[in-house]
Amino acid sequence: MQDLKVLSPEEIKGLDEPRISPSQHQTDYSKKIYLESYGCQMNFADSEVVTSILMEQGYSTTSNIQEADTILLNTCAIRENAEQKIRHRLQSFKPLKAKNPHITVGILGCMAERLKTQLLEEEKIVDLVAGPDAYRDLPRLLEEIEDGNKAVNVFLSREETYGNIDPVRLHTNGVTALVSIMRGCNNMCSFCVVPYTRGRERSRDLDSILRECINLFNSGYREVTLLGQNVDSYHWQHPETDQSVNFAQLLEQVAQLKPELRVRFSTSHPKDITNEVLHTMAAYDNICKNIHLPAQSGNNRILDLMNRTYTREWYLDRIQSIRTILGESCGISHDLIAGFCSETEEEHQDSLSLLEEVKYDFGYMFSYSERPGTPAEKKLADDIPEEIKKRRLQEIIDLQRKHSAYKNQLMIGTTQRVLVEGDSKKSSAHHFGRTDNNKVVVFPKKEEMKGKFVDVKITHCTSGTLLGELIN
Ligand code: SAH
Ligand code: SF4
Ligand code: F3S
Repeated sequence: MQDLKVLSPEEIKGLDEPRISPSQHQTDYSKKIYLESYGCQMNFADSEVVTSILMEQGYSTTSNIQEADTILLNTCAIRENAEQKIRHRLQSFKPLKAKNPHITVGILGCMAERLKTQLLEEEKIVDLVAGPDAYRDLPRLLEEIEDGNKAVNVFLSREETYGNIDPVRLHTNGVTALVSIMRGCNNMCSFCVVPYTRGRERSRDLDSILRECINLFNSGYREVTLLGQNVDSYHWQHPETDQSVNFAQLLEQVAQLKPELRVRFSTSHPKDITNEVLHTMAAYDNICKNIHLPAQSGNNRILDLMNRTYTREWYLDRIQSIRTILGESCGISHDLIAGFCSETEEEHQDSLSLLEEVKYDFGYMFSYSERPGTPAEKKLADDIPEEIKKRRLQEIIDLQRKHSAYKNQLMIGTTQRVLVEGDSKKSSAHHFGRTDNNKVVVFPKKEEMKGKFVDVKITHCTSGTLLGELIN
């Protein structure tokens, strides 16, 4: 809710005079915004909120940067190379800005939050810096720039969830959509910048989540992915009834909306994912049997240094529960970091042996990148040489690729329910979609089936894709 402004006697007197905006001139809302997004799904979901806020104010959007009046980059700060990418992108705007000095360049998201006004000093081309909780303020910030000022808002909120904003779907296939259910993170993994860029954890109100999901279904969408840095921490208290809702209960309510609406979620934290969540998943056909469970390392000393607050044994026990409650075919994916501070060769072998033991379907794998201001940067030496990090990462990637191929091969001969998302990237004679356990399937098209559930018999595979044919 916006604070009510108390008017001074002078302002009250002035009310019958022609309205002049605080910037002394009319803001030109016909201006076109060009927005690029980087980083995780949450950033992509945020860009849809940003677009909604700006369009509500009358701004229009464009996908052609040449015709943009304002260029916004929604940025990521998770690793050094994510920030380097943005800095290079900013360089590439220089000819545009030289041609048209009135173009506004704005940095949104996690890099904006991390660097704050430092960004304005280091990157002269930047006019606007807005952190992840400042998006409602964007119209005012843009107005400030029209007055010839630079504009910054990096205030982190304890309440903001953008719950009442209807995101404008960007780059949409009209079938699958992201729905943010919480923001921020209260965990303090020692390597991670997210608690500093996204602030404290807060959960979005249940009704607004359910409303967004049902609206998506009514607009033809057939899959929602509920998003949060740590979805298992979802906790919302009804302001009037005091009734509280945890993640398992939220999941159940979303699943009950429509049996034809698939539900996915990301990300789960191994210390928090409960059997209640797993049993809820088992009870509903439309909750997809796929869990992203970042491991980060397979070694207990490293997990402790990372402050992940679980052990390898605890993690493997969670994997066991997933397989017992949801069956062997449940998709499981991971995140893993190679070359964290002081990691020995044996400790790296523990990460490889974790992969061997679990045999994940998929993984996101990274080499450790020290982030300023994090506990690891303050207390631990980033002492693994780059070439060793690189070699360890490659070993992890190679092993994961082998397992992905193995897991895909297990599916040959089975019949899978697939939600069709559109034409395959390589050929318009083929459709592509996803199985319940989140594997991409490509199959020859018979008729237009986008947004439909179909049964596909899996006949071949690569390590990344299943190939199959439609079953009548
Ligand atoms: N909230 C999620 C993940 C958030 S960031 C979770 O807790 O798992 C996504 C992934 O980026 C992390 O899982 C981690 O594997 C990786 N990551 C985060 N900080 C990193 C760093 N400093 N260097 C390398 N990888 C990092
Ligand atoms: Fe970062 Fe850990 Fe929070 Fe994930 S749980 S966002 S890795 S601090
Ligand atoms: Fe990057 Fe921020 Fe997401 S740092 S990974 S965009 S939460």
